[in-house]
Amino acid sequence: MMFNTFKSLAIALALGANMALARAPFNSTQIASNSLVSRRLTEYLMPVALETHEFARVPNTNFVLLTQMSDSELIKIELDAATEEPMAYHAFPMGKNSSSQLHGVWPSTRYPGKMWLSLQAENKLLLVDPGKNLTTPPTVLRTINIPAPGNGPHCVFEIGNRVWAGLKVASEETGKYYVFSANVANSTDHTLYECLNSPVFIKEEPTSGLIYVTQDTDSSIMRINVTSGETKQMPIPPSVGNNAVGMISAYGDMSGVWFTLAGNATGGSGTFGHIGATGEMEFFTLKHPLLGVNAGLLHIADASTVADGPALWLLSTSLLSTNSPDALIRVTFSSNMSSIANEEYISMLTQNAMVHRVLPLDNTVLVSELHTFTLAQLKYNNTVAGQWLPAEAVTNNTVYTQAG
Ligand SMILES: *[C@@H]1O[C@H](CO)[C@@H](O)[C@H](O)[C@H]1NC(C)=O
Ligand SMILES: *[C@@H]1O[C@H](CO)[C@@H](O)[C@H](O)[C@H]1NC(C)=O
Ligand SMILES: *[C@@H]1O[C@H](CO)[C@@H](O)[C@H](O)[C@H]1NC(C)=O
Ligand SMILES: *[C@@H]1O[C@H](CO)[C@@H](O)[C@H](O)[C@H]1NC(C)=O
Ligand SMILES: *[C@@H]1O[C@H](CO)[C@@H](O)[C@H](O)[C@H]1NC(C)=O
Ligand SMILES: *[C@@H]1O[C@H](CO)[C@@H](O)[C@H](O)[C@H]1NC(C)=O
Ligand SMILES: *[C@@H]1O[C@H](CO)[C@@H](O)[C@H](O)[C@H]1NC(C)=O
Ligand SMILES: *[C@@H]1O[C@H](CO)[C@@H](O)[C@H](O)[C@H]1NC(C)=O
Ligand SMILES: *[C@@H]1O[C@H](CO)[C@@H](O)[C@H](O)[C@H]1NC(C)=O
Repeated sequence: MMFNTFKSLAIALALGANMALARAPFNSTQIASNSLVSRRLTEYLMPVALETHEFARVPNTNFVLLTQMSDSELIKIELDAATEEPMAYHAFPMGKNSSSQLHGVWPSTRYPGKMWLSLQAENKLLLVDPGKNLTTPPTVLRTINIPAPGNGPHCVFEIGNRVWAGLKVASEETGKYYVFSANVANSTDHTLYECLNSPVFIKEEPTSGLIYVTQDTDSSIMRINVTSGETKQMPIPPSVGNNAVGMISAYGDMSGVWFTLAGNATGGSGTFGHIGATGEMEFFTLKHPLLGVNAGLLHIADASTVADGPALWLLSTSLLSTNSPDALIRVTFSSNMSSIANEEYISMLTQNAMVHRVLPLDNTVLVSELHTFTLAQLKYNNTVAGQWLPAEAVTNNTVYTQAG
C-alpha cells in the first residue's frame, strides 16, 4: 500500500514536469491526501576544533557526550526528548590542559549513568558522572593510570566487569603497542596485551567470549582469550582491502563481531567483515559503482529492525583518501546472511568532512564530522530506514548523452 501510493505520487510528480504528458493520470485529490515521505540530514555546528572525535549517549538521558581531541574539550549536547534534535550544548575542558587529548567516551553498565573517558596524552582513563543538567560540569569519580610500558589510551570500552582501552601510541620504553584491560572494581587487576600498530576498537564475540581488536595501520585483527591470556593475529588479506578500524558486537541473526576496512591513501575497497563463533573471517563488498566500490569504511553500527531484519549502518569517510565519499550506507542481507541484499546511500551534506563515527538513536542517526566540527542527524518522515525507495525503484542506470 505504502509502495503503491508512493509510486503513483512519484509518477505524477515526474509526469507533471513534462507538459507533453500532462494528460496522464494526475489525481490532485490523491496527492493532497497523501503524506510526503522524506529523508533529511541536518548539520549541527559544534565549537570550532580541528578534531571532533567520539560520541556516545548517556543511557536513559537526553544527553550526548562528544569529544574534541585537539583541544581536549568535552561537549555535552542536550537532545529534544520527542524529536531527538540537538537543542543546545555546553563545553567542558577535560584534563590538565588543552593538550590532554580527550578522546574515548563510552557508557558504563557496571556504574549506570556514569561514563568512561580517555585522556590519551595523560595516559589516563576516567570514570565520570556527566552531571544532571546541561551546564553541570562532569565530576571525575575515578582515575585509572595506564601502567608502563603502555602509552596513549584512544578508544575505551567496558565489557563485562572489565574496562578496555587500545593504546594508540608506541611505548616510550619498548616501542611496542598494547591493549589495556582492567577489572572495573579493582584496576590493580590489569593486563597489557602486546599488539600491532595500532589498536582501535575492542569487542567481544558473544558466542565464544573471545575478544577481538582492530589494528589500523598494520591491518590486522587480534584475538584475545582472556582466560588463557593467549593472543593471535589475523591479518586482513591485502586483496580485500586494509586498515581495520570500526567494530561492533552483534547478536541474533548477525551474531559475532563485524568490522570495517577504511582503506588507504588510494581509497577504500567498500569492504567490511564478520567473525562469528567459528573464528573465521568472511568479507562483504559493496556493489554501488559510484559510492560503494571506493568507500573507505571507518565505522559501523547495528541498523537491524524487527520489520526489516538484520542490517548495518556503515560510514564511508574521506579521512584517508578523497577518493572515498563521505556517506552513510545502510546494508541488509540475504536470508542466510551469506550476501548483501540491499544498499541505501545517504551522501553527507559536506563532502571531505572526514566523517568519523555513526550512532543510531531511537528514531534518528547521528554522524560526527571530524574535520568540520559538526554533528549531522539523519531523519526519516512518514517512512523508516530500509524503506527508502528511489535507488531500488529505478534500475536503469543509463547515462544520457544529451544534457537537455
Ligand atoms: C482520485 O483519488 C481519489 C482518492 O484515491 C479517488 O477517490 C478519486 O476517485 C480519484 N479521482 C479520479 C478522477 O481518478
Ligand atoms: C512529517 O510528516 C507529518 C505527517 O505528514 C507532517 O505533519 C510533518 O510536517 C512532517 N514533518 C517534516 C519535518 O517534514
Ligand atoms: C600541558 O601540560 C603538559 C605537561 O604538564 C605540558 O608539557 C604542555 O606544554 C601543556 N600544554 C599546554 C597547552 O599548556
Ligand atoms: C539542575 O538539576 C537539579 C537537579 O539535579 C535541579 O534541581 C536544578 O533546578 C537544575 N538546574 C537547572 C538550571 O536546570
Ligand atoms: C585487586 O587485584 C589485585 C591484583 O590482581 C589483587 O592482588 C588484590 O587482592 C585485589 N584486591 C581486591 C580488593 O580484590
Ligand atoms: C580460552 O582458553 C581456555 C583456557 O585455556 C580454554 O579452556 C577455552 O576453550 C579457550 N576459549 C576459546 C573460545 O577458545
Ligand atoms: C592501498 O591498498 C590497495 C589495496 O589493498 C593497494 O593495492 C595499494 O597499493 C595501497 N596503496 C598505498 C598507497 O599503500
Ligand atoms: C545461502 O543462500 C544462497 C541462495 O540464496 C545459496 O546459494 C548459498 O549456498 C546459501 N549459503 C549457505 C551458507 O547456506
Ligand atoms: C534505459 O533508459 C534508456 C533511456 O531512457 C533507454 O533508451 C533504454 O532502453 C533503457 N534500458 C532498459 C533496459 O530499459
